[in-house]
Amino acid sequence: MSLNEAHVQVFPTPAALSYGAAEKISSVLSAAHMRGGVVSLVLSGGSTPRVVYELLASQGYQKRIDWSRLHVFWGDERCVAPESPESNYRMAHQALLREVPIPPHHIHRIRGELPPAEASRAYEVELHNVYGMAPGGIPHLTLVLLGIGEDGHTASLFPGSTAIGETQRLVAETFVQRLTTWRVTMTFPLLNQAELILFLVTGPTKAAIIRSVYRDERPDLPAARIARRRGETLWYIDRDAATLLNDSENA
Ligand code: 6PG
Repeated sequence: MSLNEAHVQVFPTPAALSYGAAEKISSVLSAAHMRGGVVSLVLSGGSTPRVVYELLASQGYQKRIDWSRLHVFWGDERCVAPESPESNYRMAHQALLREVPIPPHHIHRIRGELPPAEASRAYEVELHNVYGMAPGGIPHLTLVLLGIGEDGHTASLFPGSTAIGETQRLVAETFVQRLTTWRVTMTFPLLNQAELILFLVTGPTKAAIIRSVYRDERPDLPAARIARRRGETLWYIDRDAATLLNDSENA
């Protein structure tokens, strides 16, 4: 079973989930700062996390995070300019990063405006530089936020894409056939070494994929492969996304 009740928390509404996520993120980052070393928060794209980012920027949470010692990365990016409405960076900058005192050089944007292969190579170099690692090392990211698509993709690891077969590189460019677009994404070798992965999932359209991953019906799906990793993986889902889980599963 790739999931069990120890890994899944069901919230009554998207708003409750967002508050729960903001609580978890701020407490995980505070504990990581106590331990020392590089503290990294990897942001997810899409629409679900926006409210969480806005909460982290609010007075209630902003003060609980030491932004001066935090490095922010992205799990993936669309191959677009940073000012594009499609940009994951743009969404996070508007909702969070322009509101908090994070040093600009701690914001590690995937440069979607570059040719995809160049952007992914540059991002892997940037990851190694932040962690003071030589090429070949695998940073242990502190906290990675992920979403899930109805097809079981996560970050930009889409079923059938070349990136899901990557076993060496930490970041890869990948053409997403269904969207006919290029993406840059963190890969399984990097994500699977993260200290904590937190999936944020809301809405009735995700109910079928949540049941499928929970019951390990499609172990090949990218999100299911992350769910089976050794490191801690938590799923924050709202009641609408949990509707197809039975009572024993809907912890
Ligand atoms: C992206 C994300 C992607 C997203 C899922 C869920 O760049 O779009 O990385 O993996 O997390 O598609 O998106 P929603 O949260 O909008 O449903």
